[in-house]
Amino acid sequence: MSESNRLRIAIQKSGRLSKESMKLLRSCGVKFNINEQRLIAHSDNLPIDLLRVRDDDIPGLVMDGVVDLGIIGENVLEEEQIERERLDKPSRCIKLRNLDFGACRLSLAVPNEFNYEDASSLEGLRIATSYPNLLRRYMQKKGITYTDCMLKGSVEVAPRAGLADGICDLVSTGATLEANGLYETEVIYSSTACIIQSTQTQEPSKQALINKILSRINGVVRAKE
Ligand code: PRP
Ligand code: ZN
Ligand code: MG
Repeated sequence: MSESNRLRIAIQKSGRLSKESMKLLRSCGVKFNINEQRLIAHSDNLPIDLLRVRDDDIPGLVMDGVVDLGIIGENVLEEEQIERERLDKPSRCIKLRNLDFGACRLSLAVPNEFNYEDASSLEGLRIATSYPNLLRRYMQKKGITYTDCMLKGSVEVAPRAGLADGICDLVSTGATLEANGLYETEVIYSSTACIIQSTQTQEPSKQALINKILSRINGVVRAKE
């Protein structure tokens, strides 16, 4: 797929990981300017192009070899890996390392008036989520049947809108749940940001650049510890 010799790195365009992803790359000596209207930002000093996309698209872009590296939450990565297993499609990517930002948890949450004891309180109910695979894996392990309501966004308003009885969504500070009259009942997956590489990156010059960036990331993260 890579006709160009430039290394392609996918980062989240806007959201929880965007700023920290750009900060990390800059602290590794990758110079670039962002034009809000543009999908691609070319580095001025290294043969690197940044692709600014929706976080959910990043694992697929890496696995398909469209980009060489991606900075993404483990939750989104794991969701895509389970999806590909289910479809018998290969997950052609490796995790290079976890990063020291983007910590969050994927949790079950219900309305404040809901009398929750354990996950079995959700038996037979409807749960809204953007992470149907991680939710299914968890509920299967617990032996609980439920119906899912797949929403790509605004998951937290689903119970109030009468679309679902509970939700399974990302929680970081908890402010979104609180603002929507929900409380967290169970953490089903804990996540941080990580950097992943496509196994389809073959050119030695690209691999050398990846190694250089990774060793700089190791240095940056270690210096903060
Ligand atoms: C998550 C989640 C909530 C918010 C929770 O969205 O869907 O909207 O963060 O954070 P809080 O507990 O600090 O209020 P995210 O930023 O991952 O964006 P996305 O859903 O658009 O990918
Ligand atoms: Zn997202
Ligand atoms: Mg959200």
